[in-house]
Amino acid sequence: MTDWKAAFTTMFGAPASAVSAGIWAEVYGDEYPAELDTYSFVTRTDLHRIAAEARLEPGGRLADIGCGRGGPGLWVAARTYATLTGVDIAETALASARRRAEALPFSDVEATDFQIGSFSETGLDDASFDAVMSVDALLFAPDKPRACEEFARILVPGGRLLVTTWDFDGQPQNRPPQVPDHRPLLESAGFDVLTYEETPDWRTRQRRTMELSLSRVADLAAESGEDPSKLRASLEQTLRNQDLMTRRVLLIASRR
Ligand SMILES: C[S@@+](CC[C@H](N)C(=O)[O-])C[C@H]1O[C@@H](n2cnc3c(N)ncnc32)[C@H](O)[C@@H]1O
Repeated sequence: MTDWKAAFTTMFGAPASAVSAGIWAEVYGDEYPAELDTYSFVTRTDLHRIAAEARLEPGGRLADIGCGRGGPGLWVAARTYATLTGVDIAETALASARRRAEALPFSDVEATDFQIGSFSETGLDDASFDAVMSVDALLFAPDKPRACEEFARILVPGGRLLVTTWDFDGQPQNRPPQVPDHRPLLESAGFDVLTYEETPDWRTRQRRTMELSLSRVADLAAESGEDPSKLRASLEQTLRNQDLMTRRVLLIASRR
């Protein structure tokens, strides 16, 4: 089984890929938030929905779990005048997120903190957040029921959970266990699920990004220093894994 902490630490230790950014811009067009250095399929539409549905008051407390380089959480915090705590397993991602936060104009996000933690153990206090978000990261949680309980633990009653992730109808190779539907897990953990909707065009866009990546595997490998045949095999595996996805959902839930 892959050591995801090691894999993401190495990946985020390298400069962001210009070749990938070009592919994402080609597929997603104006929907690609290039300035946020995302490592996900998040769109501007997703981010606007998350910011609106977080229902944060100015000075509200937002957590982003699996925050990566911090772009999505910082964008939502800036739109909602919230403070932001980002959590990730990869220290290299957190270092990037801290640099990104420091480079923001002072008034954009009043307070930020980026710390090591996981979906199972965020290291955050009980009932200390008004909203929790997570973008395209929950699929890496090895224990999804536990992750949902952790979301519930750190939220105040009435607090909002906003997640983009995937439901699967089979177990993808070389990935932690997946689930066919996240709603029963959320209900059991103490949430009312308010919205569970497929994000627009997700399958076509994801397939196209992987096909373009495969067609530019030589450029990607030259950029990263990876073995082109290993990179090709990994992209082909990702394409096969994508076929097991039944939907990419934006889920919005309220802590009871
Ligand atoms: C596809 S990236 C998404 C990053 C970021 N949310 C974005 O949209 O750019 C998945 C993220 O989940 C993090 N991650 C993987 N396993 C995790 C875990 N068990 N707990 C917390 N974060 C994890 C990775 O380090 C990575 O930053």
